[in-house]
Amino acid sequence: MEKKRMVSGITSTGKLTLGNYIGALKNFVKLQDEYEMFIFVANLHGITTPIEKEVLKNNIKQSIALYFACGLDPNKATIFIQSDISEHSELAWILTCNTNIGELNRMTQFKDKSSKVKANNGTEYIPSGLLMYPVLMAADILLYDPELVPVGKDQKQHIELARSIGERMNSKYGNMFVIPEEYTPKLGSKILDLQDPTKKMSKSSSNPKSYIALLDNIDEVKKKIKSAVTDSENLIKYDLENKPGVSNLITIYSCLKNISIEQTEQHFLGKDYGILKEEVSNEVVNLLMTIQKKYEEIINSNMIDEYLEKGAKKAKIVASKKINKVKNLVGLNYKRK
Ligand code: TYM
Repeated sequence: MEKKRMVSGITSTGKLTLGNYIGALKNFVKLQDEYEMFIFVANLHGITTPIEKEVLKNNIKQSIALYFACGLDPNKATIFIQSDISEHSELAWILTCNTNIGELNRMTQFKDKSSKVKANNGTEYIPSGLLMYPVLMAADILLYDPELVPVGKDQKQHIELARSIGERMNSKYGNMFVIPEEYTPKLGSKILDLQDPTKKMSKSSSNPKSYIALLDNIDEVKKKIKSAVTDSENLIKYDLENKPGVSNLITIYSCLKNISIEQTEQHFLGKDYGILKEEVSNEVVNLLMTIQKKYEEIINSNMIDEYLEKGAKKAKIVASKKINKVKNLVGLNYKRK
């Protein structure tokens, strides 16, 4: 039986966080046996807002090494860099011409990010890439005809947009794309900010205490978890609305131990927040030490280039076939019916 296909990517801006790991990477690794996976470093998304050349280059390499260090296996999954497959940008343009500005204006991530720019500089300084970004993401997805797209909760709206663009193209031009479903983990699809647990943990946060990066110094990680915001009740109970900080720590623990929220609550019954933080810290530190050890081996080897070349070759076969079909159906190729 043919395996179902999945496609996903992570933007190459700065450090990968524990949120990226639990919400995305951990699941990629878990699913790579069962599904045919296409996983890429979204470096074209990484230039949406200004970034220095050397920083960008470093981020791309670091992301790839972390994918492997977290357990993605290039013999199972097709792993590549987005810009190595030029069909992503090509399809993005065709989809852009079939997307309305109103649809893009409604994206909450665009509203959040652009409002920050607006507050500092005024509207004319909002990079147009911020607005167009979800169309590129739709192209990333539709290019590979996946049935499922594994992502965290924050990407839900973008997947819905990709689905509507795909449906629109299908009804306008005939059968062009498979319409995918999003695939979010039951637990851990939104890991929260350690300092402000009403927000998601984000690598773009200006306060480094609010997130854990996979390459963080271990002593810093311990301090960050120790200073995570909780509440004054000293009751270890999952209640996202009233106890978001504690619920976040319970979620992290459950995800890293691969147990349910109820099992975690049971484990911590009658214990205090000090113990909770200490045990969460031990789990996170164990994970990070394993990842960091592998990362050091990989980043200094030739493996990365070899694997990427292999991944790009496989991705290119699928992508070039699809872009040809799209160009023919749209009428860009004048010789074809
Ligand atoms: P990005 O780079 O912001 O995040 C990568 C993945 O990590 C998940 N994630 C989280 N999950 C749980 N808790 C969190 N705090 C958390 N923060 C991030 C995200 O949901 C995502 O799955 N536009 C995308 C990258 C992208 C993409 C694609 C994804 C580009 N093209 C095509 C899927 C398919 C992004 O910026 O994700």
